[in-house]
Amino acid sequence: MAVINTQQMELQEKGFLDINVDPNLDLFAEIERLKKEKNAIVLAHYYQEPDIQDVADYIGDSLGLAQKAKDTNADIILFAGVHFMAETAKILNPTKKVVLPDLKAGCSLSDSAPPALFAKWKEQYPDHIVVTYINCSAGMKALSDIICTSSNAKAIIDSLPADQKIIFAPDKNLGAYLNKVTGRNMVLWNGACMVHEIFSLEKITRLKTRHPEAKLIAHPECEEPLLRIADYIGSTTQLLKYTQTDSSQTYIVATETGILHQMQKDQPHKTFIPAPPDNSCACNECPHMKLNTLEKLYLCLQYEQPELTMEESLRVAALKPIERMLEISKAAGLIG
Ligand code: 13P
Ligand code: SF4
Repeated sequence: MAVINTQQMELQEKGFLDINVDPNLDLFAEIERLKKEKNAIVLAHYYQEPDIQDVADYIGDSLGLAQKAKDTNADIILFAGVHFMAETAKILNPTKKVVLPDLKAGCSLSDSAPPALFAKWKEQYPDHIVVTYINCSAGMKALSDIICTSSNAKAIIDSLPADQKIIFAPDKNLGAYLNKVTGRNMVLWNGACMVHEIFSLEKITRLKTRHPEAKLIAHPECEEPLLRIADYIGSTTQLLKYTQTDSSQTYIVATETGILHQMQKDQPHKTFIPAPPDNSCACNECPHMKLNTLEKLYLCLQYEQPELTMEESLRVAALKPIERMLEISKAAGLIG
């Protein structure tokens, strides 16, 4: 398990990082000042709230963010995303100080695969190799042979010999989608993302009837019936790029709503409709990603905490399958 600096955890739990920020402060200017002063870089995922995306030095999908974290010369990496993403940054660039605005920003998908349970389960499949989606803990990564993201998963699986038996974890929906597009029969761990399973097929079908010109674009963490009717399936970066190059004017977007900020910013004349959830709450917002706020980000830069730290033995074990992912992605021409 990754070690969270307990002292900092206590501080955060006591509300140290919830101190009131002067409402008159120009947080955008303050964050810019702190970034320069401390030689810090802000990396943000597309699911972060718009204000956070607007102060970020780089916004990307999991693969892009991992690469950026690995290559940065900054002294501090402020990771505006969830815990497993900050962990990946630390694994790839251990000499940097990695801080995240809220240590409690977890991930339901990552939580669905506790390493001890997974280690026991995989004993049933001694001749299988383990391909694991990056949305998992460092402990899970250490039990894996190759990590993948939604943008390189197909290329990674295609790179393995056709007769190689594979376990795929933790996302059963992404795993089922990959089985379909690669023609494999991977054994799937039964995990899922709470956000991507919430969409209502019925409401989406009704929306499509009302907007026959709209294209449905979806993240592969969504369930199979939704993916079956999607016009395009891809990682967040791939979805964004699709809306930039495709000629349609309207899109129904089946992923976390944060991505709509960049889509709308880049293509202001186009219409982006968030795919509706199966109830009336804002359940297509990731509650973990949305724990981060601009105020917390400011305090995090100011106090350089909470910091993500990790035992070196765990880091080294988790690094191996990530490096394999990067090698295969490079050979496949997916990264430079
Ligand atoms: P990508 O941005 O890599 O597509 O991942 C989506 C996601 O669910 C991150 O938590
Ligand atoms: Fe995890 Fe899903 Fe949130 Fe992504 S959107 S961080 S997979 S819970």
